[in-house]
Amino acid sequence: MRAPPSIRAVRPWRGLAPVALATVSKSRHGHRHRKDLSMTDHANLQDIAKRHLMMHFTSQGRFSSEEVPIIERGDGCWLWDTNGKRYFDGMSGLFCTQIGHSYGAELGEAAAKQMAELGFFINWSYAHPRVIELSAKIAEIAPGDLNRTFFCSGGSEGNESIIKLARQYHQIRGEGRRYKMIARRTAYHGTTLGALSLTGIASIRNPFEPLLPGVRHVSNTNAYHRPEGETEAEFTAFLLDELRGMIEQEGPETISAFFAEPVQNSGGTFTPPEGYFQGVRAICDEYGILLVADEVICGFGRLGYWFGSERYDIRPDLVTFAKGIASAHVPLGGVIMTDKIAAPFLEGSNMFVHGITYGGHPVSTAVALKNLEIMEREDVLGNVRRNEPYFEAVLSKLGEKPIVGDVRGAGYFMSLELVRDKETKETFSDEEADRLLRGFLSPRLYDAGLICRADDRGDPVVQLSPPLVATREDLDYVHDVLDTVLDEAWTEMNRSGRREAVTS
Ligand SMILES: Cc1ncc(COP(=O)(O)O)c(C=O)c1O
Repeated sequence: MRAPPSIRAVRPWRGLAPVALATVSKSRHGHRHRKDLSMTDHANLQDIAKRHLMMHFTSQGRFSSEEVPIIERGDGCWLWDTNGKRYFDGMSGLFCTQIGHSYGAELGEAAAKQMAELGFFINWSYAHPRVIELSAKIAEIAPGDLNRTFFCSGGSEGNESIIKLARQYHQIRGEGRRYKMIARRTAYHGTTLGALSLTGIASIRNPFEPLLPGVRHVSNTNAYHRPEGETEAEFTAFLLDELRGMIEQEGPETISAFFAEPVQNSGGTFTPPEGYFQGVRAICDEYGILLVADEVICGFGRLGYWFGSERYDIRPDLVTFAKGIASAHVPLGGVIMTDKIAAPFLEGSNMFVHGITYGGHPVSTAVALKNLEIMEREDVLGNVRRNEPYFEAVLSKLGEKPIVGDVRGAGYFMSLELVRDKETKETFSDEEADRLLRGFLSPRLYDAGLICRADDRGDPVVQLSPPLVATREDLDYVHDVLDTVLDEAWTEMNRSGRREAVTS
């Protein structure tokens, strides 16, 4: 393996094409002052970003003393910032740039062609060729009789649509009491108020409560923190008993749907134990509950299959997708449903009473079709399947470090759980985790040229989700950076731990 990269000095700005931008400020009396800037340098972008941009899930206070990371260019699995510094995109943006960053021009041609032909028309009572073609392509690659697609713009909207579709499905069939939903703890299903109600992360729910009534959460498939000696079969039985217990407690006739990702992202790539989804399917059938696979991350190749539902034989009634369908080069999401779920909406004057303007946008669907064509042409799924054992093997070497308690995941979707004590699986305290993840790992990994996620929505994990075109050499790079930085993190945690012990 290659030598770990050293921290490289931030290089001066390399040469952006001049762009005319303007910054707007308001006087005390509300008068607008417009100041034109010749936006040719990194410093100006920094300045304007700090003054005018509201970022997502970002504590922007830190930018009073730090630079905003500004990524301006990509190629393959690599990104460059406006200082000219190079990073490996170990997160595929946010689990979504399946084909990496080299096909933008080809996707752009598809977009331009569509723009020239028809820039926009709606999906309300009308259709257009690309959305029809894409619905056929999805039916072809989705498992079983998942044959019909409702398009929207992203993952939250997809889950929002399912919440409504599931309720209406039950209403049409005379089961209007079914409004409750069950999801899993620590899972992330989006941020719009309905999708947020499914999300099982207190810190992002609490500011917006009360949320939708009737949403309950059961255990996820985190096997690492199960009782010592428990077998996989016992773990599956525990999870299914708990789900059944929750349904019985709530009243089966009140429950609309159960939501789960094939591999749960939040908390750190929890794969399902053997028999879990088969058991969930049987329970849902027994109680008339719809099974929803949230494949916003797992769909479109992340696990080496078009859908995680295929890999784990989940047989869902409904699938949420977004991100990877267009390698996130345009916004697109949606809901795939089985013929059985679609049927009542297709009778007589019935309709799904839901719509959004951009659902199935002609340009987005044209880009998605091209993205899927590229994925097939480049055998992207084959690449993931061939390299999965290699990825696991290089990460497992990191698993020998004292700070790494567990290495888990599937396909190009892996996590390392970080622990204070490997023997006892003791995790870091909240304060330590904050210092480890936000204080040390995130900036240090970025410094070392690896964009990945150090996350503690569950226990502390480093998440890895490289573009699906990543080669073994790319995966070696990921290993090499982590090899160095995780050792430094361990030293840092012990050094500061000792310091605290002395001062307390
Ligand atoms: C599993 C899952 N569901 C839903 C969403 C929400 O998708 P979006 O951000 O496109 O609204 C995400 C986003 O990361 C996700 O990971």
